[in-house]
Amino acid sequence: MDGKWLEVFATGKESSRELAATILIEVAGSGVEETATGLRAYLKEPSSETLKGLEERLASVGWTFHARAFTERNWLEEWKKYIRPVRIKPLYICQSFSTSRVPAGYIPIVIDPSMAFGTGTHPSTKLALKALVWLLSKKERFFEDRVLSLLDVGTGSGILAIAAKKLGAERVVATDIDGLALRVARKNARLNKTPVRITGKPLTEIRGGFSLVVANIIKEVLIHISKGLSQKTRRGGYIVLSGLLQEDEKETVEHFSGLSFSLIRRFTLKEWVAVVMKKG
Ligand SMILES: C[S@@+](CC[C@H](N)C(=O)[O-])C[C@H]1O[C@@H](n2cnc3c(N)ncnc32)[C@H](O)[C@@H]1O
Repeated sequence: MDGKWLEVFATGKESSRELAATILIEVAGSGVEETATGLRAYLKEPSSETLKGLEERLASVGWTFHARAFTERNWLEEWKKYIRPVRIKPLYICQSFSTSRVPAGYIPIVIDPSMAFGTGTHPSTKLALKALVWLLSKKERFFEDRVLSLLDVGTGSGILAIAAKKLGAERVVATDIDGLALRVARKNARLNKTPVRITGKPLTEIRGGFSLVVANIIKEVLIHISKGLSQKTRRGGYIVLSGLLQEDEKETVEHFSGLSFSLIRRFTLKEWVAVVMKKG
């Protein structure tokens, strides 16, 4: 992994952080580190066209960047300095290179640091994990299904599907529209020895309904695919919607209320929100 690298540090409007992260992931072809003030990524020997393209795409979502060149450095080593295991009790999410010990009583989830979204460090992932822990650690309270099934829409690294399986969901299916995410999710499912069905099929081609559907995607997409999400959620089942900024919450909850869902709990972290809704 040695060679000439450019460290890119991007800053901009908080409301378009996720869009900026998606652009950086696409251009850098590697993971993006979330910091309190922005996003950091490493590009290997980028051409001037690549950098110009990055600048234009980031500018279109209100972001800008500055860059620092370095040579003969291993980007993974750079990454390792910043990425720490994430604890969402009882889950302990660590990167595959992590040497830290899993604390007693925690369930480990190992994520390979790669190009798909979902290292566990982003607030929207943390909130979705919190909601899954809440619902799945008291299964009897929420679910009557003979087989507790979960559909993870927009699985990215596979983190939510893997967590659900480890928390006791029996049938877990995960989808993504991004081929790279599907490959990474399969790799991570193998790494964690969690049998999860990972597919690129559209929602309409996935068979059956699910006790629980989780989707951590931006509001616009959640609303766009809301009918499909609703069709996949069994009556009496639950949906976890994450990836929402506080200003997105009202519109999203109202929209899903119109599809027979009612809000039962919300989780917040910084400016991010995840909602749990029950289908009537
Ligand atoms: C913010 S990431 C979430 C990743 C992971 N689930 C997590 O919680 O960290 C959103 C993912 O949704 C995928 N995605 C975007 N639009 C989608 C759609 N219409 N159907 C399925 N997946 C979609 C993206 O490719 C991306 O992997």
